[in-house]
Amino acid sequence: MQPTVPVALAPSAPAHVAIIMDGNGRWAKARGLPRAAGHQRGAEVVRDIVIACRDLGISYLTLYAFSSENWKRPVTEVDDLMGLLCLYLEKEVAELNRNGVRVRVIGDRSRLAGNVRALIADAEARTSGNRALTMILAVNYGGRSEIVHAARAIAEAVRAGRLAPAEITEDIFASYLDTVDVPDPDLLIRTSGERRMSNFLSWQSVYTELVFLDTLWPDFSRENLLAALDEYYHRERRYGASSFSG
Ligand code: FPP
Repeated sequence: MQPTVPVALAPSAPAHVAIIMDGNGRWAKARGLPRAAGHQRGAEVVRDIVIACRDLGISYLTLYAFSSENWKRPVTEVDDLMGLLCLYLEKEVAELNRNGVRVRVIGDRSRLAGNVRALIADAEARTSGNRALTMILAVNYGGRSEIVHAARAIAEAVRAGRLAPAEITEDIFASYLDTVDVPDPDLLIRTSGERRMSNFLSWQSVYTELVFLDTLWPDFSRENLLAALDEYYHRERRYGASSFSG
């Protein structure tokens, strides 16, 4: 009979990882390339990291693809970013389907061009049956704006008599956010050395573990993802409770 060997239990993967993909511009500048080249390389990294997250057993991956503040960039850069998003949604759906990845988009779609909205709706519909990983793209997303939209919808529900003010709990409020039915992120990674939240998942990230990496997004690799997860596994999550029992 074989001796029983103690097996180290691998920590279970976080259910939800969110990423602020920062540093595309600096990556391009360091190489004497146009900013668009940084964004293009960044989109290629997205393909790899989505599959890596799926392989690791992560259930939700939220990526900050375009913030509500990004409209302040030169129109050519906005066009480049929207073009890359469209290309990604057009070209990657088959591969995402092969890998069981569902696409969901959060953010205010009303300002997006009709063709972008149509591609988003198409990608969401074509991947809706996939269960291995849900990739959530934040497009024209801002945390404060999301909260204001929820407050407006709740006010309408109260005015219409569908909801009483006393019934508004945190769970009810969260059900009016774009992230309805998505667990709050366990881990948020921001690349490029910046240490800000930049209006990302403002409601959802109150107990999220934050990991800031110096790596620029176009250089981000599976090894960087594993390093961030390793840091996460060493954190003690207390959700406001004390670390002593009894
Ligand atoms: C921040 O880098 C990055 C963005 C504003 C956009 C992120 C977009 C992508 C990674 C590519 C498209 C995404 C998908 C999902 C296909 P920055 O331009 O602010 O960099 P900088 O701070 O160095 O200037």
